[in-house]
Amino acid sequence: RDAVTERGVLAHVQALQSVADAEGGTRASGTSGYEESARYVEEQLREAGYEPVRQRFSYWNDWNDEEVQSFNIVADSPGSDAQTVVVGGHLDSVAEGAGINDNATGVAAILETAEWLAESGIEPSNRVRFAFWGGEEDGFYGSNHYVSELTGEQVDSTAVYLNLDMVGSPNGVRFVHDGDGSDSDRGGPKGSDVIEEVFLDYFAQNDLAAEPTSLDGGSDYEAFQDAGIAVGGLFTGDSGIKSDAEVRLHGGTAGREYDPCYHQGCDTLDNVDPTMLREMTAALVFAARAFAVAPPPE
Ligand code: PHE
Ligand code: ZN
Ligand code: ZN
Ligand code: ZN
Repeated sequence: RDAVTERGVLAHVQALQSVADAEGGTRASGTSGYEESARYVEEQLREAGYEPVRQRFSYWNDWNDEEVQSFNIVADSPGSDAQTVVVGGHLDSVAEGAGINDNATGVAAILETAEWLAESGIEPSNRVRFAFWGGEEDGFYGSNHYVSELTGEQVDSTAVYLNLDMVGSPNGVRFVHDGDGSDSDRGGPKGSDVIEEVFLDYFAQNDLAAEPTSLDGGSDYEAFQDAGIAVGGLFTGDSGIKSDAEVRLHGGTAGREYDPCYHQGCDTLDNVDPTMLREMTAALVFAARAFAVAPPPE
């Protein structure tokens, strides 16, 4: 398969925008927009040769006082289940909009990586599990449910979790989650430093500026982190404000949000930087390959 292309990743993002357009403008958990997003993801995975499975769960949504039925989608590569590498991101959007940067971009990066792995001819020594979480925007319910269903043995055999949440921010920064905690308040469990290093090495080798960002919660890595699993991943910024120093390294506009449409109706296709999305996807492919064939980080 060719290197990651802008066209390839954008096709997935566009498909999810079309889903939102056809389903009342949102892809929130429990809506038809979520169901249709799931069907798109499942279809793409099947076409690539995977057998996606739905993992159902329900939760009480405090915002509108109702029970929400939702599900995760999980698809496995070949490889020994002695070590599983989980690559995940949330599939649901907020109710206010289509959720394209947040998080159709992460979904697109994961789908591209799944397709790349299937077509690469690489025989993973470790199982790579691609996961699409529901209920993130209501409180990380899908990833919490997934981790809560793992046996102790399955927790132990989960080598790493890589999270993708918002990876095409229009005024973004290439953030890599800070595994060793040396660059921020909070790092990750043992092994998380290796994940950070793999991503930072990739960006350095490709002359792309990147910087660590704290693992202080707010996305689906949290449940894995709390279970003691090595975590890491990519992020390009939400409602935070871009600094002058970041503009010097990454370009863009200082004093403005990384994503001015964060959790709003304007988080549409126009709210994505395609170059950023391609770069982050290529970094994910690199890391997924590294962890698919390597022994797990110690
Ligand atoms: N999880 C947040 C959201 O979906 C965004 C976020 C991503 C926050 C990564 C922290 C780290 O809105
Ligand atoms: Zn998100
Ligand atoms: Zn969000
Ligand atoms: Zn660090």
